[in-house]
Amino acid sequence: AEVLIVRSQEEAGSIVARSIADLIVSRPDAVLGLATGSTPLAVYAALAQIIEAEGIDVSGVRGFALDEYVGLPQGHPESYRAVITREVVEPLGLDPAKVLVPGENATSIQTAGEDYEAAIAAAGGVDVQILGIGRTGHIGFNEPGSSLASHTRVKTLAEATKRDNARFFDSPDDVPIHCITQGIGTILRARHLFLLAFGAAKAEAIAAALEGPVSASSPGSAVQLHPHATVLVDEDAATDLR
Ligand code: F6R
Repeated sequence: AEVLIVRSQEEAGSIVARSIADLIVSRPDAVLGLATGSTPLAVYAALAQIIEAEGIDVSGVRGFALDEYVGLPQGHPESYRAVITREVVEPLGLDPAKVLVPGENATSIQTAGEDYEAAIAAAGGVDVQILGIGRTGHIGFNEPGSSLASHTRVKTLAEATKRDNARFFDSPDDVPIHCITQGIGTILRARHLFLLAFGAAKAEAIAAALEGPVSASSPGSAVQLHPHATVLVDEDAATDLR
């Protein structure tokens, strides 16, 4: 992977946003893979600004969220559908009908994963996938032990991930037990990956992902298998790199 050490989240955000804006100009029906959580917020903010300033037509842009909780009440403000609407669809001015979230409107949770894979394939695949990484090393909600070839499917959140994400909920008990996530194999089929990480809490996961053995024990290490992965980390997240 190409690794860029940036001074700030804002610097990373503007680099990634510039690249995505250029993609949309050259390919108006570009397919974006959308992460949630705190990490990509600077990307979305910078991209919204560029789209507005340059008057870029985004009416054809399509999006696929990486993952979603399973079992939250419909319309819950911390559902990733709600987050994607608030942080991505509205600020960028995307067509809401062109942005999909796994598991949504599924007739059955058993087939929701393969339905999502089929929708991604029908769109022609993801052009650019934005990724964060969890302290456990997860990408999407693929926790350690997830197959490197996995497809979109229902998983159980790791205890550590539930604790990390409790900050978004009123009570830690409100964090769902299950999620539906693109698999590592799904992520690897995107044509360009941007993996971002900021802060010392991510240093160990980043070192394992970039310099450790490629292993299902370290889902982020799958980026080593990808021919076009760009990693943007701040100095704190880069601390454990050799
Ligand atoms: C979010 C996702 C997760 C997060 C990761 C980091 O869609 O799939 O893998 O990217 O948990 O979360 P933050 O960015 O909140 O530190």
